[in-house]
Amino acid sequence: MNLLENIAQLATCRAEGAQGEIHPIADAALAWDGDTIRWVGPRAEVPAEFRGADRFDAGGGLVIPGLVDCHTHLAFGGWRAEEFEQRLLGRSYLEIAADGGGIARTMRLTRTASDEELSRRAEGFLRQMLALGVTTVECKSGYGLDRANELRLLRIYRALAGIQPVRLVPTFLGAHVVPPEFRDDRAGYLALLMDDLLPAIARERLADFCDVFVERSAFSVEEARRLLTAARAAGLGAKLHADQLSAGGGAELAAEVMAVSADHLECASAAGIAAMARAGVVAVSLPLASLYLGQSPAPARRWIEAGAAVAVATDFNPGSAPSYHLPFALTLACALQRMTPAEALKGATIIAARAVGLEARVGSLEPGKAADFAVIDAPDVVHWLYHLRPNACRATVAGANLAWTAPGFRLKR
Ligand code: NIG
Ligand code: FE
Repeated sequence: MNLLENIAQLATCRAEGAQGEIHPIADAALAWDGDTIRWVGPRAEVPAEFRGADRFDAGGGLVIPGLVDCHTHLAFGGWRAEEFEQRLLGRSYLEIAADGGGIARTMRLTRTASDEELSRRAEGFLRQMLALGVTTVECKSGYGLDRANELRLLRIYRALAGIQPVRLVPTFLGAHVVPPEFRDDRAGYLALLMDDLLPAIARERLADFCDVFVERSAFSVEEARRLLTAARAAGLGAKLHADQLSAGGGAELAAEVMAVSADHLECASAAGIAAMARAGVVAVSLPLASLYLGQSPAPARRWIEAGAAVAVATDFNPGSAPSYHLPFALTLACALQRMTPAEALKGATIIAARAVGLEARVGSLEPGKAADFAVIDAPDVVHWLYHLRPNACRATVAGANLAWTAPGFRLKR
């Protein structure tokens, strides 16, 4: 049994209540055993059974649930820094893609990378994410775009899940774009995804969700509807990249197919957001992608007012969001989208957990849930997202491991 004390504020982030209700406890303590939380409450009320536990010291800081990054494209070959510069010089994301850059470029670099290279890089990213307080990461395929390479990416995620402490949620994104070899045969590519890959993925249990990029340059609403219906029949939940660059009815489709989330939504219609709110589809805001593509920030404040649950994630990928810094994304959600720090935190904990179907296990600090938490060098949530800096996260506990400790900090008494 372990007991963490000297906590100025503990944000429980329980699901109930409004987006901004994180149910904080001042001067708190937290007891856990192995990978499971046993008790959370005010330090003055620690039950007798936990008083003989191994003692840990939060250093008078903030304790939050391990952060959940519910949208990443974690494994890919190469980078695309020159596209960042080209966009700054005036070329658009779609122009670059039409010229053989963009997703197709990363597809080529991913296909030629070895398993070892892809895996080692992804593992390195996960280690750095732990140092930011992130303990659960959704990771999409989508840079293989053929049978062998899509399966390869998902198998790499499965192997990674067993050798490092971050909990991974794999998502099949074969429908990222139509690959060049199928340029004149969209129907053939869709048939490959639906009749061959989905059954193979279901058989090997390689993914929990199926995602589709719905956009003029990628897949139509009709194509996505067919694919997500087939995915559902194969036992995979639905996710969507929706209304990112143009309003294409993606939010409405997410509500119709009862997707677990629809992500991006910069251009989503008010009716689409209202339909998502009614259907209980999580709206995932990706402010790093809007920032890097020079788009206006998505109106997350209006989504909250419309009754939607809003998650915030990084969208980490080599093109539109080359950063896995989830706390930075949360600060952007505050500064650019007028979410409060508490709303942003709930969006990267319990609501993000819902967006990956794990709300029963992660995303809040409650007895019976995973002992995944981060100790932050700040008196409260507002101060943390206001004074963003390296090593603000002093320690991360994940999957029964002390997975990260900042230089000079000691968690164990
Ligand atoms: O979420 N929108 C589509 N997919 C990614 C971008 C991928 C890329 O540019 O490589 C996104 O923004
Ligand atoms: Fe994405």
